[in-house]
Amino acid sequence: MENQPILATDRLLLRSFALADAFTVQQLAGDYAVAATTLLPHPYPDGLAELWIASLREGIERGDTAAFAITLAGEGRLIGGVRLRIDCGHRRAELGFWVARSCWGRGYATEAVRAMIEYGFSALGLHRVYAMHFSRNPASGRVMEKCGMVHEGRFREHIRKWGVFEDADIWGILREGGAFP
Ligand SMILES: CC(C)(COP(=O)(O)OP(=O)(O)OC[C@H]1O[C@@H](n2cnc3c(N)ncnc32)[C@H](O)[C@@H]1OP(=O)(O)O)[C@@H](O)C(=O)NCCC(=O)NCCS
Repeated sequence: MENQPILATDRLLLRSFALADAFTVQQLAGDYAVAATTLLPHPYPDGLAELWIASLREGIERGDTAAFAITLAGEGRLIGGVRLRIDCGHRRAELGFWVARSCWGRGYATEAVRAMIEYGFSALGLHRVYAMHFSRNPASGRVMEKCGMVHEGRFREHIRKWGVFEDADIWGILREGGAFP
């Protein structure tokens, strides 16, 4: 039985994914613009969203995952996802996130990521949260920067995406890393 809370921010409610979200996830994460800067496949195959949501739930139960659907407070529409892959031994987690193309540029990713980092430190007892993005995807780095993460470096040709070796930037934030924005 999973036991994640609902996280409320000014404009968003972050809640656990349900299998009923699979169709919407396929539609939104199936957008080429979202697939192009993540490790998602394109086109997004039938059935993958169901498997992904089930795997998140298993991870939450094992204690190595925290994952929330990003929804608009009020109307409840699902607009994205945010996840931590937790390494308990090191009390660190890798952060990942995406927002539907139609909702970019309104600060939603920043709002959701801030809440997730805070949850990671306060509720999960993490010491460090880090994230990577394609170097050609500065919007993602900007979200991390706005959330108080520090740019730690660039891994050259670290990721093979659709047959091309691509540079990746890594950002991190420590629990005691200073004032939380
Ligand atoms: C990256 C992503 C999550 C950003 O979501 P968002 O809700 O638009 O993010 P926000 O509105 O909170 O912040 C985006 C910031 O990037 C900036 N930005 C956008 N495009 C940019 C660009 N080409 N270069 C530099 N900054 C850029 C915006 O101006 C904004 O910063 P500001 O508030 O200082 O103006 C979204 O584009 C997305 O889901 N992309 C596809 C999946 C992905 O890349 N996920 C991250 C994988 S690590």
